[in-house]
Amino acid sequence: MLRPASPFELRRATADDLDALLALEARSVQSCWPEGAYARELALDHSELWLAFEQQTPGGPPSSRPVGFVSFWVVGPEISLLNIAVDPASRRRGLGRRLLDLAEERGRDRGGCVVFLEVRAGNEAAVTMYRRRGYLQVGIRKGYYADNGEDALVLSRELVEQAREDLLAAGPDDG
Ligand SMILES: CC(C)(COP(=O)(O)OP(=O)(O)OC[C@H]1O[C@@H](n2cnc3c(N)ncnc32)[C@H](O)[C@@H]1OP(=O)(O)O)[C@@H](O)C(=O)NCCC(=O)NCCS
Repeated sequence: MLRPASPFELRRATADDLDALLALEARSVQSCWPEGAYARELALDHSELWLAFEQQTPGGPPSSRPVGFVSFWVVGPEISLLNIAVDPASRRRGLGRRLLDLAEERGRDRGGCVVFLEVRAGNEAAVTMYRRRGYLQVGIRKGYYADNGEDALVLSRELVEQAREDLLAAGPDDG
C-alpha cells in the first residue's frame, strides 16, 4: 500500500531561525527555555537543533514559519533528547514521531546507541508517543519541574534493539 507523502520538511536550524523558533516554542510548550539557551545550543558541536516546516500544497514550497522542532545532544554512546514540540495546530499528524525518528537516526549516525529523556509524568501525549516507540521508564525525578513541582519520568531506548526491529520489519533479503 502506498503511504501519502509527508507534508513536513525538516532541516537544521540556524541563527536566522531563532526568532521563529522562540515564537513556536511559546505556542507549543508548557515552560520555555531561558533566554539565549537555543543560541548556545547552535554553537555546540555535540548539539543538533532541527525545525519542521509544512508544505502549503502537496509537493509545494514549505511554509516560512516552523511547525515543529527537536533538540538533542550526542555525547559518546548517549543521545539526550532535550526538547521536542509540535505546534498545537499541526499535532496528531505524525510530526512528533517523525522528529523523534530523526533524533534517533542522527544520533545513531553519530555513534549513539541509547537515548535518554525526561518528560513530565502528566504529559500524556508525549509519554504515550515515547512508550509506543518502545521507550521504557528507567527512573523518576521527584518534584523535578520548578513551575509546578511535577515529577519527571526518565525514559530510555536502546537503538541496537531498534535496528533489529527495522531489519525484521523489512522482511527477508531476497539477494
Ligand atoms: C508530544 C508531541 C510532540 C506529539 O506531537 P504530535 O505531532 O502530535 O505526535 P504524533 O502525531 O507523531 O503522534 C505520535 C503518537 O503519540 C501519541 N499521542 C500524540 N498525542 C497524543 C495525545 N494527545 N494523547 C494521547 N496520545 C497521543 C499517539 O500514540 C500518537 O500516535 P497516533 O496518532 O498514531 O495514535 C506534542 O503533543 C507536543 O508538542 N506537546 C507539547 C510539547 C511536549 O510536551 N513535548 C515533549 C517534551 S518531553
